[in-house]
Amino acid sequence: MTAGDRWFSRGGAAALAHTLRVRIPIIQAPMVGVSTPQLAAAVSNAGALGSIGVGASDVDAARTEIQATRSLTGKPFNANFFCHEPTTVNGERERAWIAHMTPLFREFDADVPSSLASPYRSFLDVCDAMSAMLLQEKPPVVSFHFGLPPKSTVAALRGAGIVTLACVTSPREAALAVECDVDALVAQGYEAGGHRGVFDPSRDQQIGTLALVQLLAKTSPSTLPIIAAGGIMNGHGIKAALTLGAAGVQLGTAFILCPESAADRHFRDGLLSDRAYDTRVSAAISGRPARGLVNRIFSDLGGGAVEPFMPSYPIPYAGTKALGRVAKAKGSTEFAVQWAGQSAPLARAMPAAQLVETLVHEVDMVE
Ligand SMILES: Cc1cc2nc3c(=O)[nH]c(=O)nc-3n(C[C@H](O)[C@H](O)[C@H](O)COP(=O)(O)O)c2cc1C
Repeated sequence: MTAGDRWFSRGGAAALAHTLRVRIPIIQAPMVGVSTPQLAAAVSNAGALGSIGVGASDVDAARTEIQATRSLTGKPFNANFFCHEPTTVNGERERAWIAHMTPLFREFDADVPSSLASPYRSFLDVCDAMSAMLLQEKPPVVSFHFGLPPKSTVAALRGAGIVTLACVTSPREAALAVECDVDALVAQGYEAGGHRGVFDPSRDQQIGTLALVQLLAKTSPSTLPIIAAGGIMNGHGIKAALTLGAAGVQLGTAFILCPESAADRHFRDGLLSDRAYDTRVSAAISGRPARGLVNRIFSDLGGGAVEPFMPSYPIPYAGTKALGRVAKAKGSTEFAVQWAGQSAPLARAMPAAQLVETLVHEVDMVE
């Protein structure tokens, strides 16, 4: 046992590790498009908790990904789902959004999409079928982003021995998650890469990780373990979060440069360049606020402002991804989606198991 392990074997961290059935209460964040079964399994096999992001998958694809992960590890892992409000179809908004994007498609001499369809559905839309699959496959941990499933679903999953986590961005959302009876809260700060888990983007308080962890530790001291997420990249960050009251941490951006991730070369080069110093939050890329490396999708699709005619999440994503493809075909990565957090320049390229080991060692070294 290393001293890092001893640090994790105390108090709230030990209790969370026990709940998750892992040695190290560090979670590799689920990241649709970036996390893979190989990444999740490498993290889990190293003693932490690996995650797969199946929020954009249908039931069959989610099942396949869970089975693929299970074939690579006998250790616990997490499968993550999106609980956004069911998507509203509004032809007028979709046409207006296509018109908004038309000059960008024209720039690449590409055909403009004639319509935009939602690329995936909310867990809430397919709750019965997805829950039935989960009760068959029994991934050891299931986490929810953008909102909460019905309380009865959480009860059914927990009844089957599945540990449940909910991402929250404010004390108000934490209270709703506690009421839903999940096992632990992922407290996601504004620094975080990727989509904000905020339940209702019109009420986003944009609280930073440091403040959020303390608010939740203060307001719900005896209720649920808090897993800090957002801007944590190394032992200093982990120990800071634990010192402030978190029982564990969830790191996304830190794992993007691992060889087991699906990030492409340009994304990796971006993270290793000065571009990593410039991340921003925009809702115009998918319809919900998300943080990534700045390129023209941030400036040319509407910046940080939510356009009044923007279609319901995730319909705009269909347009953004189509634009990214046509731009890439013409040699431009200016419209590639590259989600990353504010601490992106601190990301390190190393195999996932080595990163987990390094993080534990670093926690040990921090006084
Ligand atoms: C590339 C990328 C994709 C992400 N996709 C998801 C996702 O599918 N589901 C989810 O719950 N969180 C997702 N997140 C957010 C993470 O769960 C986590 O909150 C965030 O990575 C923490 O901040 P950090 O990136 O600074 O470590 C994503 C983050 C990144 C960087």
